[in-house]
Amino acid sequence: MAGFKTLGDLDLKGKRVLLRADLNVPVADGKVTDATRIERIVPTIREIVKADGKVVLLSHFGRPKGKVDPDYSLEQVAATVADVTGHPVGFVATDWVDVTNAQKAIEAAPPGSVLLLENTRFHPGEEVNDVELAKRMASLGDLYVNDAFSAAHRAHASTEALAHLLPSAAGLAMQAELEALEAGLGNPRKPVIAVVGGAKVSTKIDLLENLVTKVDGLIIGGGMANTFLHALGYGVGKSLAEKDLAETAKRIMETAERHKCAVILPIDGAVAWHFEANAPHRFYGVDAIDPDGMILDVGPSSIERITGAIDDASTVVWNGPLGAFEITPFDAGTVAVARHVAARTKAGKLVSVAGGGDTVAALAHAGVKDDFTYVSTAGGAFLEWMEGKPLPGVEALKAS
Ligand code: 3PG
Ligand code: MG
Repeated sequence: MAGFKTLGDLDLKGKRVLLRADLNVPVADGKVTDATRIERIVPTIREIVKADGKVVLLSHFGRPKGKVDPDYSLEQVAATVADVTGHPVGFVATDWVDVTNAQKAIEAAPPGSVLLLENTRFHPGEEVNDVELAKRMASLGDLYVNDAFSAAHRAHASTEALAHLLPSAAGLAMQAELEALEAGLGNPRKPVIAVVGGAKVSTKIDLLENLVTKVDGLIIGGGMANTFLHALGYGVGKSLAEKDLAETAKRIMETAERHKCAVILPIDGAVAWHFEANAPHRFYGVDAIDPDGMILDVGPSSIERITGAIDDASTVVWNGPLGAFEITPFDAGTVAVARHVAARTKAGKLVSVAGGGDTVAALAHAGVKDDFTYVSTAGGAFLEWMEGKPLPGVEALKAS
């Protein structure tokens, strides 16, 4: 990978390795409900253990706002890390003011141990990228490895300042993620199609403006498509739409035209009169939406058009569902298109990269989460990458 070291460039033998992971996983009733982020760091942990190094895991968990708060203790994640890695995990409490006990625990641990330190956000220095806190962290290790792409949009002590204080490298998960993203937008096989859905244009203006300068086609679905349809003069009835963003939508379409990016909007929609599962619905062309109804999904003609556009693409980058996929039957568009992308990928015709919280849930719902070339577990970091913004956690690895 250009620009920074990877795990293979470090001499791990017998070293204390600070491994920045993203253990900010969903927990309900004391149980981790989705361990994907933990699964992704297993290869890096194995390499360090194999070299008789000591793995010292660093992560944030939730948003405790710089205070020690048992509700946000990483201790509740330790057992799952042990389960998933198949390796005992020693949890080490610290307030990050005095790290002597952590130093001693790491010292006492035999080679090949895996230790998990307390939530880095228990100290206010974490979120302000405090170099003094980063120095205390650095005192606990010989090397720094970052496997937390999903936290790389934060310039925090454990993701940014720390990388400058020790010999640093991208871990295997970070490396895989950056390589997949490079294949998605950095240096992709053309033509490239972006699929962008979700409720609102307002949260994705930067993303849309960046994408239309880079990709050959932009498929817009979800509630945000209604804003574009409204901007083009179509009536969208009672659909979710940000009508005050009509000018923004027009500007995005103009930029797209200048950059020869085809904007593909729905041509029909599944219209219902109540937002609820199995609500009675009918399909309308976008030029004839019932004024009392709301568009909850793309219609069959749109699906045909979208899958046709995907057939002409070599790369697809996807963020956001195309309809209200949480309630049947308005998941139909998202599911059909996701399955089509998965099938083309399996057939070797397509490189497909997807990311963002809702997107991963939608792909899992369609049963194709494992059939894309790469699915990112990142939320905010994936969006900022799609916006074309440099990510501090990645940039710091390049600089060190
Ligand atoms: C995430 O879950 O998106 C990352 O762990 C970052 O968390 P944050 O949004 O609280 O910084
Ligand atoms: Mg977030």
